[in-house]
Amino acid sequence: MLKNKDLLGLKDISREEILLILETAEHMKKVVCSPNKKSPYFTGKSMATLFYENSTRTKSSFEFACSYMGGSFSSLNVATSSVNKGESVLDTLKTIDSFGTDVIVIRHSQSGIPHTFAPHVKAHIINAGDGMNEHPTQALLDMLTLKQNFDTFQDMQIAILGDIKHSRVARSNIWGLSKLGAQIRIYGPGTLLPAGIEKMPNVKICSSVKEAVKDADAVMGLRLQLERMAKGLIPSMGEFHKKFGVDEQILSLAKKDAILLHPGPVNRNVELSYDVVDCPQSFINEQVTNGVAVRMAVMYLLTSNKQVL
Ligand code: CP
Repeated sequence: MLKNKDLLGLKDISREEILLILETAEHMKKVVCSPNKKSPYFTGKSMATLFYENSTRTKSSFEFACSYMGGSFSSLNVATSSVNKGESVLDTLKTIDSFGTDVIVIRHSQSGIPHTFAPHVKAHIINAGDGMNEHPTQALLDMLTLKQNFDTFQDMQIAILGDIKHSRVARSNIWGLSKLGAQIRIYGPGTLLPAGIEKMPNVKICSSVKEAVKDADAVMGLRLQLERMAKGLIPSMGEFHKKFGVDEQILSLAKKDAILLHPGPVNRNVELSYDVVDCPQSFINEQVTNGVAVRMAVMYLLTSNKQVL
């Protein structure tokens, strides 16, 4: 079972817990892909989403995950809520907690918000992205996509490219993948490489996109997070694409059976060329499907004292 009350990041959980979530998600995926999407794993339970930042995939997939497991959910529209009357994050969380909510999924622009407030509520808190820190369920769905394509994570070579500095997806993937034995190659503009990234486990900083991608098992583009970026960090979108983007030619340097990942939303012709997004090696849509399965697994494991397997 999961040791902690909450899922706040992959830095905080063990290799065994990650593997348990992935195995449970493989089971849940059968429900997601079945014509009859009914299962009893969250029956009688409730989930609420509290997103202070925009989302399509994460928020909707938590809602679908809850429905497919027989639970009920409520998604607070922050823009029309009492947040606009000045209600604090803690008071908002306590209010949602007082509805009897079993799981609260929160996304916020400030790093550490879920960690700060989780001890103050009874509900299980799931971090759906906190600032530039972590996005654990995104990395878990990336890992599920890798698990379904490769025999083992041990010594797998993963290239993560682009805006590393602002990417909570990159950080969660580095924490999680390194625990499973994978090696992570990083390449991006010097202005978008955070200080200390080279000290994270199993990380190698590369000096060209070719070095990062050559013979890699998987290539992961990251969204350029313009909303978090000061002006002047990149010369132009076109220049960024030429030097740090992935097109079919760059992808051909990876292993023959390598897969292409991106957390979405993709800026086409910036991180990835227009055509490579839809190429046979692209698993971007499969990642979205796996997101529902992973979120079902996490909600189930946090709220149940049984394993489905
Ligand atoms: N990958 C991801 O977090 O996408 P959304 O912002 O659409 O949720």
